[in-house]
Amino acid sequence: FQPKLLAGKRVLLTAGPTFEPIDPVRGITNLSSGKMGFAIARAAREAGAQVTLVAGPTALPTPYGVSRIDVQTAQQMHDAVLAQVGDKDIFVAVAAVADWRVVGASEQKLKKTAAGAPPQLQLEPNPDILATVAALPNRPYCVGFAAESENLAQYGEEKRQRKNVPLLIGNIGHQTFGRDDNELILFEDSGQTTLARATKQELARQLVAAIARRI
Ligand code: C5P
Repeated sequence: FQPKLLAGKRVLLTAGPTFEPIDPVRGITNLSSGKMGFAIARAAREAGAQVTLVAGPTALPTPYGVSRIDVQTAQQMHDAVLAQVGDKDIFVAVAAVADWRVVGASEQKLKKTAAGAPPQLQLEPNPDILATVAALPNRPYCVGFAAESENLAQYGEEKRQRKNVPLLIGNIGHQTFGRDDNELILFEDSGQTTLARATKQELARQLVAAIARRI
């Protein structure tokens, strides 16, 4: 017997990397696999929620019963989230969103020139999707993620306060990308809790239970 901890709740998630084009065949991306976000989407659905998943480029199959919107860039992810967030109770931002995009991506493939000078890429910041949602007057319960390569205990709590979210989940060790297991710290007002190393699907169930207790 599995209790339906999120029965009647609407959950919106982001997952995976984003892809920021340089030209039609090249781009900037990162090593996020999407596994943690997809696992949470599946666990939320199993807990009885109506789940919408906005996914960056990943080859993962859509979890059963989850409604999925595929995007490439951070701006597209931002626009999809804002179009969907209105009636949601919970927003979980798991995606590894590119911090910067290329200004004026080329419509044609960039060519090597005889002179050999490499193209100069100019970058501009992407919108912060989580901070934008957390600042909405009618905001859902917001959960963020952090992958830090050092000093997680301090950076995690700082990030939670900067993004102004009640719950921020830290990946312990930045080697999480692509793996099937993980170890997490929950940062919140009342302090920090560790979820011991387990598969991402098991941790996703524990996280969904933790979120259900807090809403
Ligand atoms: O600032 P940083 O990227 O480390 O914050 C990570 C958290 O913020 C994650 O929950 C991520 O999904 C979210 N985020 C976002 N939009 C961005 C950057 C990060 O939603 N542009």
